[in-house]
Amino acid sequence: MIDFKKKLAKIIFSDDLGLSIEEIENMIELPTDKSMGDYAFPCFRLAKTLRKAPPLIAKSIVEKIAKNEMFDDVKQVNAYVNMFLNKEVVVKETITTVLDKGTEFGKSDIGQGKPVIVEYSSPNIAKPFHIGHIRSTVIGNSIYKLYDAVGYDVIRINHLGDYGTQFGKMIVAYRHWGNEADVKADPIKTLLEYYTKFHVEVENNPSLDDEAREVFSKLEKGAKDEVELWKWFREESLKEFTKVYDMLGIEFDSYKGESFYSDSMPRFIKELKDKKLMVESQGAQIVDLEEYGMNPALITKSDGSTLYVTRDIAAAVYRKENYNFEKNIYVVASQQNLHFQQWKKVLELMGYEWVKDCIHVPFGLVSLEDGTMSTRHGRVVFLEDVLKQAVDKTREIIVEKGVMTDDIEETAKTVGIGAVVFQELSNSRIKDYVFSWDKVLNFDGETGPYVQYTHARACSLMKKAGEETLKKALSKDIEYKYLTSESAYILAKEVYALPRVVIEAAEKYEPSIVTRQVVNIAQAFNRFYHDEHILVKNEDEKVAKLALVIAAKIAIKNGLDFLGMKAPEKM
Ligand code: ARG
Repeated sequence: MIDFKKKLAKIIFSDDLGLSIEEIENMIELPTDKSMGDYAFPCFRLAKTLRKAPPLIAKSIVEKIAKNEMFDDVKQVNAYVNMFLNKEVVVKETITTVLDKGTEFGKSDIGQGKPVIVEYSSPNIAKPFHIGHIRSTVIGNSIYKLYDAVGYDVIRINHLGDYGTQFGKMIVAYRHWGNEADVKADPIKTLLEYYTKFHVEVENNPSLDDEAREVFSKLEKGAKDEVELWKWFREESLKEFTKVYDMLGIEFDSYKGESFYSDSMPRFIKELKDKKLMVESQGAQIVDLEEYGMNPALITKSDGSTLYVTRDIAAAVYRKENYNFEKNIYVVASQQNLHFQQWKKVLELMGYEWVKDCIHVPFGLVSLEDGTMSTRHGRVVFLEDVLKQAVDKTREIIVEKGVMTDDIEETAKTVGIGAVVFQELSNSRIKDYVFSWDKVLNFDGETGPYVQYTHARACSLMKKAGEETLKKALSKDIEYKYLTSESAYILAKEVYALPRVVIEAAEKYEPSIVTRQVVNIAQAFNRFYHDEHILVKNEDEKVAKLALVIAAKIAIKNGLDFLGMKAPEKM
């Protein structure tokens, strides 16, 4: 990582300050107002040791360091030392680092290979994989990429909703009204039809409910026919989900869903009993959480069947025992806030101190311009259809605009799906947002296509420059005096910020911070491209400018990768 802070700390350091280099480094700030310099050092803390007013201390530090070649200017403003870096130094440091690191640029090793679990997507079997699921899937994938980038060993888990009483209903419905061929042809839509029909029929025929309960109880006990049907539903559903994951380029290390934990239910029920946490309430077993201002956590129903929270308790313990995670991250909608609060409290009461490392990362709702979608009212918008539509619409735009590409289909996919992903990661995750095609596919806004297009533009410059020039640029033997313009400097600064931004995004579980930075780099690149003639006659100047173009290209490509997106070379 490019570490100006450390360098600056070393320059500021002197014995009489009574601070270590590291302490100074941690005190250095990045002013948001750029007229206050690139970095600022506050002197308040030094007043005690030096027995001087902070502005005076700032002044003496300025006098001491002003001559250093790192700076274009150093100013004292009140208690602050405001430092303006030498432009050439910044540009040089950026280009050397980025070209050296290549695909590794943006990454770091603060995670030291420690295990982190990221659980995301986790759809329910035999239910539509609809547009609402895009959020956990795409945000979770990016959080995985970010934790991987900062050096953790990430285990990606899809905690499938593949268990619960609804499977009793599904099996009953299938037996009454279903057939194999229909399910095979279109599993999720067909299974959903059966499920909906069950709810209509049960109004007139309440005994269906008893039947379903009985079937689920058989399923829980491992009865062969029931288990076989359930397995089949699960497989067919997973095939459908996988289509979407393939389109998005998303993978998992484990698909252990809720059903996986059903065998260990007795262990936790016993443990809760032994620890005197469970009480009976109307036949059900609950953990009373009134003391903590929460509704009770329902552990088992009156018929003995277990519930969602019970399986989540088992899953957390399983993960700790098998992966010994440093962090266990759950990317799940904010609608489940209460569930996760209850679950955490129960684990805490059970005495698991590691529950502090279990983190629920919530996010807001996505809705469509023509109103929200809801499974109950049958107005579901399938995610697969949205992605296909994105590709179709992009293909139209590509043809209409005459976008350069060797493979229209491939570009339409990369850009169309990338556009949806980028939009998804553009707002801070907790905000609700409205999905709008016009916004998603706008090539000029702060969108995926815009950033990808910028990347392709950089690639095209590299091609046009020719191999000879490209080689010289990559050798980093460059005359930096050609890169002192304001737009070159700003571009370099945006590029070198990437590794720091990636760490911040990982710490805050907030991919939108990276999305923002990638837009900043693209905008700075386009300003540079607009302000300066890059492929000039003077070879040295051309080489220098091209080197910065390559650095920007690498930063954009890597940044998009952290978001789970591809960067086409041509478009
Ligand atoms: N299957 C659940 C749903 O679709 C999400 C599961 C979230 N993860 C968890 N460990 N509870 O609502």
